[in-house]
Amino acid sequence: MTTPTSTSLPAQACVLWFTGLSGAGKSTTALAVQQALHAHRCANYLLDGDQLRQGLCRDLGFSAEAREENIRRIGEVAALMVDAGLITLVAAISPFQQMREQVRKRFAPGKFVEIFIDAPLAVCEARDPKGLYRRARAGEIRDFTGIDSRYEAPLAPELHIKTNQLAPQQAVEQIIHYLHQQHYLVATVTHPPTTR
Ligand code: ADX
Repeated sequence: MTTPTSTSLPAQACVLWFTGLSGAGKSTTALAVQQALHAHRCANYLLDGDQLRQGLCRDLGFSAEAREENIRRIGEVAALMVDAGLITLVAAISPFQQMREQVRKRFAPGKFVEIFIDAPLAVCEARDPKGLYRRARAGEIRDFTGIDSRYEAPLAPELHIKTNQLAPQQAVEQIIHYLHQQHYLVATVTHPPTTR
């Protein structure tokens, strides 16, 4: 007997913009969502702040002006990718409300999905995956977000994920559920078995 097969219907492109403190879990969550999107056979790309700062944005530092330019560039690249039909994931601290609002305006209504990856500063500092909080506390790094540079939490994000209260898989489920609900992902169609 032949088993049923499934087809994922095409998704609509949008940007999933992950904002939050360093160590809150932006990249981890975005990577896990990316895997889920691949499982849906959904074309996507992840733009990661850390990675972009090695190339496209390597001339930029961490002053407020430099961060604004960093986010502007990332927003422009994300807009091109959304035009190309990709679900585009962005993981960047993007600390200021106004810079995120500017980027939101760059997209058609509903195409900018702001996802607040939230963990208390003390938790991020305890995680300190790159040892940067320790260096910032020691005064070796200036303008470090959460220490001597501010982070403005989103006022009305489409999704608010508290990574110290949710397992990564639960966070992914919440995001994928939202994408289905908003018709960015279309439910899988199961075909009956073919008979020969
Ligand atoms: S953003 O503020 O301009 O959005 P972005 O996400 O691109 O920042 O880069 C943040 C990454 O740069 C952090 O994850 C961290 O690894 C590194 N970094 C180095 N210096 C700083 C700093 N002063 N503040 C924040 N992140 C820093």
